[in-house]
Amino acid sequence: MSSNRELLRRHRQVMPSWLSLYYEEPIALVRGEGRTVWDADGKAYLDLFGGILTTMTGYGIPEITRAIHEQADRLLHCSTLYLIEPQIELAERICSLAPVDDPRVFFTTSGTEATDAALLLATCYRRSNQVLAMRHSYHGRSFSAVAVTGQRPWSPSALSPLQVSYVYGPYRAQGPFAGYDDDAFAAACVKDLRNTIETTTAGDVACMIAEPIQGVGGFATPPDGLLGEMKAVLDDYGILFVADEVQTGWGRTGEHFWGIEAHGVRPDILTFAKGLGNGLSIGGVVARAEIMDSLPANSISTFGGNPLSTAGALANLDYLLEHDLQANALKTGHMLMSGLRDIAADHPVIGDVRGKGLMIGVELVGPGGEPDAAAAAAVLEACKRDGLLVGRGGLYGNTLRIAPPLTITEPEAERALAILRSAVAEAERATRADV
Ligand SMILES: Cc1ncc(COP(=O)(O)O)c(C=O)c1O
Repeated sequence: MSSNRELLRRHRQVMPSWLSLYYEEPIALVRGEGRTVWDADGKAYLDLFGGILTTMTGYGIPEITRAIHEQADRLLHCSTLYLIEPQIELAERICSLAPVDDPRVFFTTSGTEATDAALLLATCYRRSNQVLAMRHSYHGRSFSAVAVTGQRPWSPSALSPLQVSYVYGPYRAQGPFAGYDDDAFAAACVKDLRNTIETTTAGDVACMIAEPIQGVGGFATPPDGLLGEMKAVLDDYGILFVADEVQTGWGRTGEHFWGIEAHGVRPDILTFAKGLGNGLSIGGVVARAEIMDSLPANSISTFGGNPLSTAGALANLDYLLEHDLQANALKTGHMLMSGLRDIAADHPVIGDVRGKGLMIGVELVGPGGEPDAAAAAAVLEACKRDGLLVGRGGLYGNTLRIAPPLTITEPEAERALAILRSAVAEAERATRADV
């Protein structure tokens, strides 16, 4: 097997320059078990990022890999021109779980494709290409998904099939409403939404798309109920509401199965991907039947909902529900959150700790409260050296993202906190002359 260094050399020769890699010395992960992964040089890491919140239940879970093997032995592919039993069964299960009225499900292969499908449905149903999206959002990498992505580092093109207006939403820490309390912040966002509709659109807007907690945006977490208050404004104008649950779905936020449930509303359209497949390529859209069935032409996804992905996703969903991993996300999430708040109390380099369940953002700042990307990079490097993988995000690249598989144990959470405490202290010493 090739070493990390050799793989990096070959990667640089054939892969795009914009496909960014973590770490000064990037690593290849070659094996996983539970929450532990090993790199190509044999070093072990406790994984608190799960391949970007995708390894939801963990590595090498026999119940899931068995279902994948059995399906692979039977049939890999047939296309949606034929009935697919695991696809139908998975759709039935998702319809019973999703907070959408009269639901129908369409499967895709990724979150990006789910975003695209949701936008196609909303714009066809409403006969309008006007869309509202959130500042600091991320919805994928395709032409339409980039068009509703509200942060410069992930927006390579201004060309768009949509007319998009951006509204204020979950992110508060460095924006114009920094320092506002929850009520004042929610009131400001609702006022901005109504004003944006009145001043920047032609009135017949198709939909607003929002993540209940912004993922790539640095786990920016709105006050509970905010998206419900915003939906009430949308209702005044007949605008559809799309909840992007690609990161927040399946119990990750601990207190709810879907992130949007913290806001007391039922979306018209909901998108999912990532965790459902525990690494298999699957995404999709749930929509009210009258919206789902409004497309005026045929539409398929050749690989969407294929037998292998849906059989594996079913086994993964069974595992999640049978082991009540949502309850574990709540319990271990509280532990991690309070441990991180203790670390923040001792280290001013941490400006904000936020999130829910196993979706925790830690924003690192300089002496004046300004974003400090160098400190975040230093924490990532120190964690890696000490055998811990965490993610990074936010508009300024200064937010640590902690989102382990939902099976993480309390001893593992304690070990992670110990490594994080010393990594934060080390990064603070290296980047802050004032402490
Ligand atoms: C909230 C959200 N929506 C959509 C996507 C796009 O998903 P994918 O990378 O599977 O295309 C992502 C990816 O990170 C995401 O975080």
